Formats: sequence, structure tokens, C-alpha cells
Amino acid sequence: MNALVIGGAGYIGSHAVRELVRAGHSVVVLDDLSTGNAHAVHPDARLIVGDILDKEGMVSIFEAAADADAPIDVVFHFAAKMIVSESVAKPLDYYRNNVVGMLSMLEAMAECGVRNLVFSSTAAVYGRPEGGICHEDAPCKPINPYGETKLACERMVEWVAQAHGLNYCILRYFNVAGADSSLEIGLEKDLLTWIVPLIMQAALGNEEKLTIFGDDYDTPDGTCIRDYVHVTDLAKAHILGAQHLLDGKGSLVANLGSGSGFSVAEVVEAAKRIVDFRSEYGPRRPGDPDILIADTSRARELLGWEPEIGLDEMLRSDYEFRKILTQRNK
Ligand SMILES: NC(=O)c1ccc[n+]([C@@H]2O[C@H](COP(=O)([O-])OP(=O)(O)OC[C@H]3O[C@@H](n4cnc5c(N)ncnc54)[C@H](O)[C@@H]3O)[C@@H](O)[C@H]2O)c1
Repeated sequence: MNALVIGGAGYIGSHAVRELVRAGHSVVVLDDLSTGNAHAVHPDARLIVGDILDKEGMVSIFEAAADADAPIDVVFHFAAKMIVSESVAKPLDYYRNNVVGMLSMLEAMAECGVRNLVFSSTAAVYGRPEGGICHEDAPCKPINPYGETKLACERMVEWVAQAHGLNYCILRYFNVAGADSSLEIGLEKDLLTWIVPLIMQAALGNEEKLTIFGDDYDTPDGTCIRDYVHVTDLAKAHILGAQHLLDGKGSLVANLGSGSGFSVAEVVEAAKRIVDFRSEYGPRRPGDPDILIADTSRARELLGWEPEIGLDEMLRSDYEFRKILTQRNK
């Protein structure tokens, strides 16, 4: 397939680009490099530095591809702002980049007759689901502007699909971690509110210790339970999603997670088997639900997707990549 990957210089997008290239597909990346890195883009993909808000820029990409007899078959859309706390402080920036960005991209796709879209959504669209297990048909009640913008994008895609014959695969990710097996790409940002990057800060000695926020949640060991998925498994699901659309099997919304959860205490224990570091319990953080686990039956049934990499390897590859990154940045 000929793929346009918007946001392909970022953490998840760069892994998707790598899997696309490995599978022999032809890839163009559009990225404004606001949080991504040119060096993360596989050398066999072509990087165009540009903004998703620039509709005409995207039209030019689609037209140039069609003129070169390689029309874009599928657009993969990863480009978004995605820090929850920042979205609370700067909601307008989030609506502009995420929602207006989606509008601009859908306009360009409609104008150029590009019909297949794979879109990165998030478990944040669910808010605080009852029982902590998220099924795609559960009510979506986001609790922050980031989740709201992603849900607004999902709804826009669904309406535009009805009107313009677009096929879509909306993928709602749970907690993503890990690095490519080559250790050439991985998470480069310091997203200090997520548990795995927080662990890595302590594991690499950048922080004296890890604080675990709360030990009195309604879970067996009192720490929050979350669902973790390796970034390479996630990237592979995108290719399956695109193939599903190209095979004419219809649009879908699907969760991507492991389908089971680990408590924060269990994740910390697993990380300490790789490298020792100090940790202590602190007070709860506001807004953390007790449990968030994906029901992944739909992705398994419709896409034939099966996550293959477990928590230990997720943590090991994340740690090894971050060690390399620390050396590189010295
Ligand atoms: N990382 C996670 O755990 C996670 C979880 C759920 C959903 N998601 C979603 O996955 C997608 C990718 O996340 P990520 O972790 O790789 O983030 P990232 O910040 O590493 O990647 C986003 C990429 O998009 C680019 N970008 C942003 N705004 C742009 C614009 N206006 N025009 C062109 N490029 C732009 C950035 O430069 C970056 O390369 C996002 O849509 C995010 O909402 C991520």
C-alpha cells in the first residue's frame, strides 16, 4: 500500500512507519516536528515537514502521489497534542491542533478522493467507565479536554464517512510503552505523569526515587490497575486495520490493549527485576480511576490482532532505549 503517516516522527507514529516499511509498504510522513524527531523516521520513508492544519499542503501531497502513479491508499493519523494536564491549561490549543487538524485533513482527503483512514484515539474518551473494563460500546464521557478533542475527532470521522464514503479504523489505545527491537527508536519525551516514564526516571537515576501515587484504591494491592500494550504490537494493529479497510471489510472502532491489567505495584516490581531503584508511596493524584482495562475482543475478532509482547519485555526495551538516549544526549 501507499501510506501517508501524519505524525510519523512521533513515538507511536515512528514505530508504525517502521512496521510499514518492514512489511514492504511505501511511506510518506507528514510531521511538523513539534514533538517528533526527524531522526525517528525510517530512512526508507520520505519525510515532509509540514502542518496538518495546512489543508493545501496535504492536497499537494495527495496530488503529487497520484501524479507519480502511487496514489495514497491509506492515511494514518497520529498527529495530536496529548498531554492531559496541558490540555486542561490550554484547551484552545488542543481544539485547534486536534479537532481543526482533523477537519483540515478530512477536507483534503475528501477533495482528493482518498478513502481510507486509520486514526489514533485513546482510552481517555471513556472517562471513568463503570467497573473499569472498557468496551467500545460503553458510553464515552471524557473528563478532560484532551479526551474531548479525541472524541470530537471520532464523531467528525463517523459523520464525514457517511457523507463522503470514507472508510475508517479508529483505534483507542490504552497505556503504551516499550521501544522497537532495534532500540533505534522509542519514547523520547519526558511525559512525567505516566507510570513507565516515571519509573524510568528513577531507574536511570534522574530522580532519587519513584513516588507511587496512592495505595488505598479499590484494587487487591491498593494501587491503580492499568492495561499496558507494547508500541510494536500497537503499530502492527494499524497495518491490520488498514488492510481490513483495503479488503473492503468495513469501518470499525476498536480498543488496543492487552485485555488484562497490572497494578502499579506490580509494574514497579517488574521494573525492579531489571534494575533496582528506590520507591515509596505518596498520596493519591487527583483524577486517577481505580481500574482501566480494555475489552480487546473486537480487535482480536475483526483484525485478527493478538498482542505478543509482555510487560517484562516492554519495560526492558523501554529501559534499554532510554539508556541509549541518555548517552546520545550527553
Ligand atoms: N502515547 C500514548 O500512550 C497514547 C495513548 C493513547 C493515544 N495516543 C495517541 O497516539 C497519537 C500519537 O501519540 P504519540 O505518543 O506518538 O505522540 P507524539 O507527540 O510522540 O507524536 C505526535 C506526532 O505528531 C506531530 N504533530 C503534532 N501536531 C502536528 C501538526 N499540527 N501537524 C503535523 N504534525 C503534528 C508531532 O510532531 C509528533 O511527531 C496521538 O494522536 C495520541 O493522542 C497516544
